[in-house]
Amino acid sequence: MVKSKNMLPLKGQRPTSRSDSVETDLLLWWEDFYVPVFEYTLPKMGTLKGKKVLELGAGTGGTATLLAKRGASVVGIDLLPFRLTEAKMRASEHNVVESVDFALMDAMHLAFPDNTFDFVISKSVLVFTEHAQTAKECYRVLKPGGKAIFIENMRYHPMVWLYRKVFLKYSGKLRYFSVQDIETVGAEFERLEHREFHLLAVSALFWQKCIAIPTFYRASLRLLKVIDTSLLKCLPFLKRLCWITAMICHKD
Ligand SMILES: C[S@@+](CC[C@H](N)C(=O)[O-])C[C@H]1O[C@@H](n2cnc3c(N)ncnc32)[C@H](O)[C@@H]1O
Repeated sequence: MVKSKNMLPLKGQRPTSRSDSVETDLLLWWEDFYVPVFEYTLPKMGTLKGKKVLELGAGTGGTATLLAKRGASVVGIDLLPFRLTEAKMRASEHNVVESVDFALMDAMHLAFPDNTFDFVISKSVLVFTEHAQTAKECYRVLKPGGKAIFIENMRYHPMVWLYRKVFLKYSGKLRYFSVQDIETVGAEFERLEHREFHLLAVSALFWQKCIAIPTFYRASLRLLKVIDTSLLKCLPFLKRLCWITAMICHKD
């Protein structure tokens, strides 16, 4: 059984059994921070029944399973065979193994014909690739009217930057996103929408370490998310300092 880490549902969060809520256990890591991102992106996909979705860098299959449970037929690709084995197990545990297929493949060189998928999605994967090349490939395999949804990590959040410097030795090799990088990816498509998430909210993780009281963490996170929303609305230039970006790229 693949267990979820960092699982701390927010008080008042909608139950995961509701079909319109995000299954937090399938977000796998930093759920408290990815729920709002998926609440933004999933409605952009509309009804998934009968839709063909490609997931880049499927990892252990959380997102592929989540989408298959919503009716999509999903192909998940990754460079690591053991990740795909785990992904298959996860799909099987959730009874959607018939709706998912996993393949060993490089996101920068997709072995699919042009105009194959209704959606392409990725979460924390483009940072491992050359952005424009991957975006070009995604555009090619999308059907006209399709969308590519890239959920990626940004470069300049001060706390996250420090964390990467200290704890993620390999982070120097990754291509974290700046606003200019977002635009570079968008330039491969006809239209780009994007939204950035989490500025002050990230500091709730610091307070969680200092004052290990779950109620305090939940309350501080909720408050900081509200402050972030207002702050980013009033001072949009601060978006460049956020942690996560969600890009919705449209192919006409
Ligand atoms: C940070 S993990 C994210 C996994 C998954 N998307 C998730 O959110 O749980 C990045 C994944 O991308 C895969 N990956 C990295 N470069 C890739 C590439 N060029 N093509 C396909 N997958 C790649 C890695 O093997 C890894 O499983």
